[in-house]
Amino acid sequence: MAGSENMAELFKDPEHAATYANRPKQIIPGFDGLHRITGQLIAEASPKTILALGGGGGLETRTLLDHVPEARVCAVDPSAEMLAQGKAYLQDDARVDWVEGLIFDAPEGPFDAATCLLTLHFVPDDGAKLETLKALRARLKSGAPFVIAHLSIDKADPKSDLHFERYLRFAQASGMDEQALEKAHKRVREMLNCVGPERDEQLLREAGFSGIELVFKGLYWCGWVAYA
Ligand SMILES: C[S@@+](CC[C@H](N)C(=O)[O-])C[C@H]1O[C@@H](n2cnc3c(N)ncnc32)[C@H](O)[C@@H]1O
Repeated sequence: MAGSENMAELFKDPEHAATYANRPKQIIPGFDGLHRITGQLIAEASPKTILALGGGGGLETRTLLDHVPEARVCAVDPSAEMLAQGKAYLQDDARVDWVEGLIFDAPEGPFDAATCLLTLHFVPDDGAKLETLKALRARLKSGAPFVIAHLSIDKADPKSDLHFERYLRFAQASGMDEQALEKAHKRVREMLNCVGPERDEQLLREAGFSGIELVFKGLYWCGWVAYA
């Protein structure tokens, strides 16, 4: 199944969803830059319609509308709680369509652009990541830009322990609650379905994207632009 069991279920926990908005900044080095880069590269295409996969929390939807005010954004997310958060965060902006589900539940489009921020690392690399990317590309016009970013660590890499440790230290230095962080770190280490950057790029190619470029790196958080 092309879903994302385990860690993704956390986002269906009302408390986890309610406290979401400040967390990415504390965990991701250069989070604001990632959002500005995403907005800038998507705006290059002057899109009228944008698909935001995993866009429930509302943060990237906000960024997209700030950069392309004339666009409509379709935010697709399996968590009703995150969609409710996003809706409130965007003050029920009429330019946003909120769709509960996976990419397969999204309208067929075709859309002029798409994003998938901090989401694909939840999806297992057992065919589900590839199916998700293919289904997303199938919903884009030819040549449309796609910005995708997430944690990119190959768990089989002997250096991965050091890389996860650095992830933890960065979040600690942001002043996050120590106990919550220890728990979160264990979850990320054991349950996140992240892969290394080479595999991420291979999946984008296999899904049919071209012009793939790494446009963001903050420790082991990587972001790419690619074209359908
Ligand atoms: C860390 S949040 C990121 C939210 C938003 N993209 C942002 O940048 O603020 C990850 C989101 O991905 C959603 N998610 C998990 N698995 C997913 C899947 N297979 N397809 C789409 N969204 C998924 C979660 O429900 C959650 O809302």
